[in-house]
Amino acid sequence: MSHHGMYFQHGIYAMCQNDTEHEGRFGRIFSKLNGNYNKPQDLTALGVKGGPMDGGRGRNATNTIPMGFVFLGQFIDHDITLDTTSGLDRVNDPNAIQNFRTPALDLDCIYGAGPEASNFLYRNGMYLLTGEDGSAYGGQANNHRENDLVRTSTGTAIIGDPRNDENRIISQLQLAFIRFHNHVVDHIINEKSLSNNDLRRGSLRKEVYEEARELVTWHYHWIILHEFLPLIVGNPLVNKILGQGRQFYTPKKAFIPIEFSAAAYRFGHSLAPQKLKVQKSQNRDFDLFGRALGFGFSPISDDKQIVEWETLFDVDAGAPAQRTDKLDTKLPSDLLELPFITEGEKSLATRNLLRGQSFLLPSGEVVASFVGVTQAEIDKVLLHIRNNIGTIDLSNGIPLWFYILAEAECIGRDDGNISSPGEGLGLVGGTIVCETLIGLMEMDGMSFLSRNRNWTPSLNPTGNFTMADLLTF
Ligand code: HEM
Repeated sequence: MSHHGMYFQHGIYAMCQNDTEHEGRFGRIFSKLNGNYNKPQDLTALGVKGGPMDGGRGRNATNTIPMGFVFLGQFIDHDITLDTTSGLDRVNDPNAIQNFRTPALDLDCIYGAGPEASNFLYRNGMYLLTGEDGSAYGGQANNHRENDLVRTSTGTAIIGDPRNDENRIISQLQLAFIRFHNHVVDHIINEKSLSNNDLRRGSLRKEVYEEARELVTWHYHWIILHEFLPLIVGNPLVNKILGQGRQFYTPKKAFIPIEFSAAAYRFGHSLAPQKLKVQKSQNRDFDLFGRALGFGFSPISDDKQIVEWETLFDVDAGAPAQRTDKLDTKLPSDLLELPFITEGEKSLATRNLLRGQSFLLPSGEVVASFVGVTQAEIDKVLLHIRNNIGTIDLSNGIPLWFYILAEAECIGRDDGNISSPGEGLGLVGGTIVCETLIGLMEMDGMSFLSRNRNWTPSLNPTGNFTMADLLTF
């Protein structure tokens, strides 16, 4: 097993040196704290299949987090860590380059560089293409094509971010966002009673597109603030950061903190399921990466693979969706042997641990005391870890990602009067995740948090808006 073969994410190399507070899109929140070091053998032993982080092939579900939020979480990650900047440099559109250099929750994974620079994603300058518009890919049954992304003749998805075809669910979530945008376009056209004749004007189509994009993005931000974050970090922390301001992630210009991308936000790898079902009538679960659901980066090829969203989000009040796996130190077995990595380290856990170390992340306990966690609580987490790692030596310090998972497992989400172990992040993980996501929105000149903090969702008469609303709009 060669770690030299591991690929490195473009753009974050610079973070391997201690002297940069930020380099382009990436930076540090805790630039004053020293990097931790563990022997690579110990990190490999921690992340190996069959080791202490192997959650096996079964289910150990949360009570509160609908399964779909695993994939929304992954989708959000891809939205902000998208690194096509270098690719976009080749497009001669300075405005687009400017925009894409700003890390923001701007749905560039859906919109690409917009209808002009990325016209291959669009129809009529307003609508985003779906499989229904016709794929170059032959050999797909009609009902499969109509429930899939638009694809090239070899089956590659034509989307703003290729990673959103990585598994069977995220590709259909990508499609759901695309359809949501298209429905919002129709909604605007209806509301303004625009005729086909009116819409011959390119400038009007552009206006409709831009209004739709803003509405979609603002409703998406609302979901992150008022549904996703409360589930992942708890309402008290969200309200504290919104109400009293960020304490740690306070740059003048937005960047992606390496503590977020190489550690805290990788919490989602623990929520992911080994198996799930995607249709109400399915009477058994299928492996997320298995023959029935398929391996991702491939066209829908079986009726079984078509997602019914009520199995993943609470769309139907009477029949709650499946729940995610617990937020703990365990990952599903299959993620410790990723099927799509052909060369180098296959364990996602080991990759995360080595990655964090290569970026000189401080240890979990050092960050914990810096953000104000009590020594008693830190000791509780450390004892819990010691009891669970056998002879693995982490005495120098606990890797930040692993600490955050252990904190979630034995302390958990702050729900006000109680904390809920296994249901969400504790204070270290929660602070990094919540300050980063809220910070990215507050520093984004296009968001409602920066343009109109009193905005409420306009696409739903109740004034609230959830994933269930987005999927049924
Ligand atoms: C569901 C199945 C998932 C798979 C198979 C998967 C796989 C991966 C892989 C292979 C990497 C690159 C690891 C490396 O070499 O450093 C990665 C990175 C990452 N993943 Fe996941 N992931 C999944 C879900 C999630 C979820 C649910 C979240 C968060 C809620 C998440 C957050 C991240 C983050 C933040 C990174 C680093 C991205 C960057 O810095 O560019 N992932 N994931």
